[in-house]
Amino acid sequence: MASPFDLSDTYSYQKWRNMKLCQALNYQNDLNELFVTIHNCQAPSTHEVDQVLNNCLRYSFSFYRLNNESNNQKAHITQFVTQLGLKKLDANICADKDKLTSITQVTHKDQHNYIPYSNKRLSWHTDGYYNRLNKQINAMLLHCKHPAKSGGASLIMDHEIAYILLRDENPEYIRAFMDIDAMTIPANILNNKMIRKAQTGPVFSVLSNGQLHMRFTARTRNIEWKQSSPTLEAVDFLTNLLNSNSPHIIKYTLQAGEGLICRNILHRRTSFVDYEESYKKRLLYRGRYFDTLNQP
Ligand SMILES: [Fe+2]
Repeated sequence: MASPFDLSDTYSYQKWRNMKLCQALNYQNDLNELFVTIHNCQAPSTHEVDQVLNNCLRYSFSFYRLNNESNNQKAHITQFVTQLGLKKLDANICADKDKLTSITQVTHKDQHNYIPYSNKRLSWHTDGYYNRLNKQINAMLLHCKHPAKSGGASLIMDHEIAYILLRDENPEYIRAFMDIDAMTIPANILNNKMIRKAQTGPVFSVLSNGQLHMRFTARTRNIEWKQSSPTLEAVDFLTNLLNSNSPHIIKYTLQAGEGLICRNILHRRTSFVDYEESYKKRLLYRGRYFDTLNQP
């Protein structure tokens, strides 16, 4: 079957590429294009669900905004994303009992080494890049219960646009990033206990439904890149791109009751300053899903 991700299929690639770059102008010109208002997140309308799913198919991400403050609760958000087909959560070691993870500043023993639970900046990555290859994260939810006093913005980039910019620069970068041994994440050992074995895999792969998947981290420690010229050059190119002021990088600070649903695109967070009062502290709920976001 023809695929834009097949390096030998220039026709399919060009057609898809031109459509993607043209569509991206919609949200680059006006981010509101990507916000879907949800009137009752426990029972969203078919139209609302379709809008979010269509955004995710077209742009790889969508924002939503609850218009009822009483809906801004974890259980209600879970009900909402279930309607999008997101049910199979990856429960990481820091997840809450209901498996959505509360991203807030904490200092307890299992989390003290993890930057997500601090107020520090978080570098570019896709979620679960260290997961086993048969447990990849295909969709992600980030919902804001309370924003920080200042900072804590999300920077995001459609991973399909990153693919296009890499392929246009040099198709060999794509070949290198599709190698099954392109990147290795060393084992995670905490208190002399192995939490996760080393994971080797590609950066880009194509899912069984034809969608593009990406594993990436801009971290320079705890990552081993394949020592070949095209791989290292591709990493350099992508790193420079992500650190540039490319119009393809979108910056937005989620406000209370707003959220991001995406096909595990590239993202990072800026550092933030929190409120003194504990009930006002920045709190986001994150869900990592094995499910894919599909056509409505
Ligand atoms: Fe993340």
